[in-house]
Amino acid sequence: MAGKGVFEEIIDGDVYKYYADGEWKKSASGKSVSIINPTTRKTQYKVQACSQEEVNKVMELAKAAQKSWARTPLWKRAELLHKAAAILKDHKASIAECLVKEIAKPAKDAVTEVVRSGDLVSYTAEEGVRILGEGKFLVSDSFPGNERSKYCLSSKIPLGVVLAIPPFNYPVNLAVSKIAPALIAGNSLVLKPPTQGAVSALHMIHCFHMAGFPKGLINCVTGKGSEIGDFLTMHPGVNCISFTGGDTGIAISKKAGMIPLQMELGGKDACIVLEDADLDLAAANIVKGGFSYSGQRCTAVKVVLVMESVADALVEKVKAKVAKLTVGPPEEDCDITPVVTESSANFIEGLVMDAKEKGATFCQEYRREGNLIWPLLLDHVRPDMRIAWEEPFGPILPVIRINSVEEGIHHCNASNFGLQGCVFTRDINKAIMISDVMETGTVQINSAPARGPDHFPFQGLKDSGIGSQGITNSINMMTKVKSIVINLPSPSYTMG
Ligand code: G3H
Repeated sequence: MAGKGVFEEIIDGDVYKYYADGEWKKSASGKSVSIINPTTRKTQYKVQACSQEEVNKVMELAKAAQKSWARTPLWKRAELLHKAAAILKDHKASIAECLVKEIAKPAKDAVTEVVRSGDLVSYTAEEGVRILGEGKFLVSDSFPGNERSKYCLSSKIPLGVVLAIPPFNYPVNLAVSKIAPALIAGNSLVLKPPTQGAVSALHMIHCFHMAGFPKGLINCVTGKGSEIGDFLTMHPGVNCISFTGGDTGIAISKKAGMIPLQMELGGKDACIVLEDADLDLAAANIVKGGFSYSGQRCTAVKVVLVMESVADALVEKVKAKVAKLTVGPPEEDCDITPVVTESSANFIEGLVMDAKEKGATFCQEYRREGNLIWPLLLDHVRPDMRIAWEEPFGPILPVIRINSVEEGIHHCNASNFGLQGCVFTRDINKAIMISDVMETGTVQINSAPARGPDHFPFQGLKDSGIGSQGITNSINMMTKVKSIVINLPSPSYTMG
């Protein structure tokens, strides 16, 4: 149970504590931040509103702890991560309960998120042992003008303190996808969870605490973005920022110092359906891709671009599947659950009303109760409608009918976003040609966009992000290359 049993020490009264110096603490601010349950729209949890002084202290601790962590053998770092992964999985029910209550994630998906997170942590430990256990050896005589008198040994070293800022939709999984690579690479960690999702993240952090990581190495501060948001991202003690979220990331990248940034900032993933596509396969993926977790995934299908000749047939198939989606509370494991906040629901409604005014065809009646929005397919969407370009982050899916593949590619590439896209066709040659010209970080052929499996490279072009994630890429991104050059007194060639 959340806040009970082994999790009792992370709560004081009805306010969850923050984590620093290996201990659960109350903020000296005496203030808290409320977390509203998207389903009941009542306060579900409260977390500490940490102050800037507390952030300063955490940074100091993280810096000191990192020095000795970097000297901890790699196999020991991996061992602790494996331990944390196992504890995390053991406590999947309590953490999933928080995900259900604070972000309205359907119950089964909430459990899946925690299990996936444990697997991610273990895989990262194994991958880290492999890739950080290797370096490079270079000799100088391959470059013109040099004899073989210099040997260069290069290896990967940690960056220092990594600031991890995950989003509300995966507060556990997209936190550990930053935490585990940072730790295996010898960095320390400051986590700033999103407000909705903070309590799930605090429970996850407690699993790392129970695994026995050194004091100060992992820290988690909660609070108002207006008080500690910029303060954290511009803090001189931060050596790397890994952020997933909305366009706040663009602002962060403008303000951050000369440090490596890893950013994933959303998408408007296009699904191009050609005349020769398997329409049943396409429809199934459009519904899964567009409506899982009520469309609140950066990799959700956010616009369908279908050839006019098969559009009627595809829309009918998608409509039939949408009709089968269950709508209701996350506790009942419904497919469509309330969106995360009232302001999100209002934003989504604004897009729907704009499409209505401009003449889109509503395949279902628009229905909303509080934060709960029924799934809606909008046909005959045109480029002058906001929904053609903007990311609803809700269960609303526009269909644009196209007369040529080029028209579809043009729409996809005219977007500011470039996260993923997908193409449905039985012609693999065409699929490759289209994938090559789509300006997105990944193109899925005959399947909906998705980040996983978690070791695959995951990256966005344009406003969708900076850098590449996925386990291997994240470990590499959280390291620097260090070289040691051995200068020989005279050239040394091999036998002969
Ligand atoms: O919301 C952004 C996530 O990175 C998407 O992950 O494709 O596993 O749902 P997912």
